[in-house]
Amino acid sequence: MSPQQIELVRLSWQQVFPLRETAAQMFYERLFELDPSLRPLFKADLSQQAAKLFDTLNALVASLGENGALETVAGPLRRSHAGFAATPAHYEAVGAALMWTLQASVGKAFTTSTRAAWREAYAQLSSAMQVDRGAAAAAAAAR
Ligand code: HEM
Repeated sequence: MSPQQIELVRLSWQQVFPLRETAAQMFYERLFELDPSLRPLFKADLSQQAAKLFDTLNALVASLGENGALETVAGPLRRSHAGFAATPAHYEAVGAALMWTLQASVGKAFTTSTRAAWREAYAQLSSAMQVDRGAAAAAAAAR
């Protein structure tokens, strides 16, 4: 990501973070609308989950542009999410719900360039979380 893109993500995140409780509620509502099959994977009370998700996004934003920092964020999530059987389609739904939430929280300031910068940041994290997917599929095929 370019330094300008990192700046766009940081500035918009500063607007979202103080609204994180509402934003998190919106995020999960949107996610379960996009893919209702995901709802049973989560606990009925999403407040703790929402806090963890926003802490992760906060860490992601802080790590942008820092060498090796993405892996610190993505590594533990890669391991936990392999256990949740998250598929590429699930990651797409999460990305779409995130973009929708950011747009709704940031409003007019969520410009085309800010959206593109967030897409890139999300793509980096979600790819790093799925890095073992190809290797696991190859190993299963070889068996
Ligand atoms: C980049 C995208 C994502 C981020 C940043 C993220 C983040 C997190 C975090 C921080 C947690 C709690 C800590 C942990 O268990 O590791 C969590 C739990 C979880 N995530 Fe994700 N996640 C993402 C994508 C997904 C996707 C695509 C699925 C679809 C299956 C998913 C399903 C779950 C489930 C089922 C839990 C456990 C819920 C519970 O214990 O009640 N996540 N996620």
